[in-house]
Amino acid sequence: MELGKSFYTKLLISRNSLLGIEQYIIDPEREYINICNNLQGTLLKIGPTSDTYINIFDIRKESTEETEKGYLATKIGKLIGFFNLIFGEMNEEEKAILEEKIIECYRNKGITFEDETLYKIKIINENPVSVFKESKDMPILEDLYNILGNSEKTKTFKVKLIPFVKGSLKFLNNYTNIEINNKLIIADIYELGEENIKYGMYIFTELFWDKIKNDRKIKKAIYLDEIWRLIGVTSNKHVAKFIYQIFKTIRKYGGSAVAITQDISDLFSLENGTYGKSLLNNSSIKTFFSLEEENIKILSEYSNLSEKEKIEIKTLKRGECLMFVGDEHILTKIEADDYEKDIIT
Ligand SMILES: Nc1ncnc2c1ncn2[C@@H]1O[C@H](COP(=O)(O)OP(=O)(O)OP(=O)(O)O)[C@@H](O)[C@H]1O
Ligand SMILES: [Mg+2]
Repeated sequence: MELGKSFYTKLLISRNSLLGIEQYIIDPEREYINICNNLQGTLLKIGPTSDTYINIFDIRKESTEETEKGYLATKIGKLIGFFNLIFGEMNEEEKAILEEKIIECYRNKGITFEDETLYKIKIINENPVSVFKESKDMPILEDLYNILGNSEKTKTFKVKLIPFVKGSLKFLNNYTNIEINNKLIIADIYELGEENIKYGMYIFTELFWDKIKNDRKIKKAIYLDEIWRLIGVTSNKHVAKFIYQIFKTIRKYGGSAVAITQDISDLFSLENGTYGKSLLNNSSIKTFFSLEEENIKILSEYSNLSEKEKIEIKTLKRGECLMFVGDEHILTKIEADDYEKDIIT
């Protein structure tokens, strides 16, 4: 139901940009273009008609901090999440085989579990300098496809990768050619279409997450609209875990995360609601627009709603919401002044 979730998000974005906060938005519905233009943001687009690319195999310098496990190990975890979206839920054996193949892909590029292998020597002003490897030094999807061979065990992987290597999604089979250097970045993934939008969401979430980790002193925010597409019914543990980890740890990187969804039952569909619950528990502000009976029931299982609030939530109008801030529950009206409305619509 159109009750003002995105409107409120846009208002937040425009106000946060006044505060100089770095902002990353994942836009599955192509509805943030105006605000992007009005606030001089950068629009990143991937899709069949776009010639900007992101390579899911990229390992970025900022992806791992000193105290964490190494670059490749961290990346493998995230890739397993991505391939879960493509291959569906995998059993332990399938996961192990896939992991072995991923490791082989990187090894063929000279990248191993030794973090030094992520660096190369580049001649800059006639001097040899050690620099972090770039996208074109990494594998791409085709490299995985090519080594999957035709054994019974890997055949289904290979078949499922065909669209990504030769078919409608082959724009995902390229080295990254974009750079991010703006305070407002919108990721337009609308063109991927209903079925495939989750891939775009995952790829951009991963890219933005690395950016967010880059410098703890910079204040930043990430917005994931229509998040049910990523962690709803069709999703799996690995992806949900990755998103949950962002919500759990982003504060320590000077950031905040905003997840927007129209259907909370989706959030609680996985693993008896474990991930939905963690998302809620790790959100310091929760904003509920009008909900239907069924969703109110789910919500009251996971938070303390009074009988009065249950009725209130049902009768909220567009732009009205019930906000949970700590233990406080506050009825709120989202109001933008004309100047703000011009910017966001
Ligand atoms: N607080 C508000 N003040 C003025 N207009 C609003 C307000 N909230 C929403 N609108 C308008 O109502 C319409 C729907 O709002 P919005 O797109 O934010 O809904 P939504 O909850 O994100 O819907 P969906 O579930 O389809 O994503 C938009 O045209 C928006 O401009
Ligand atoms: Mg919306």
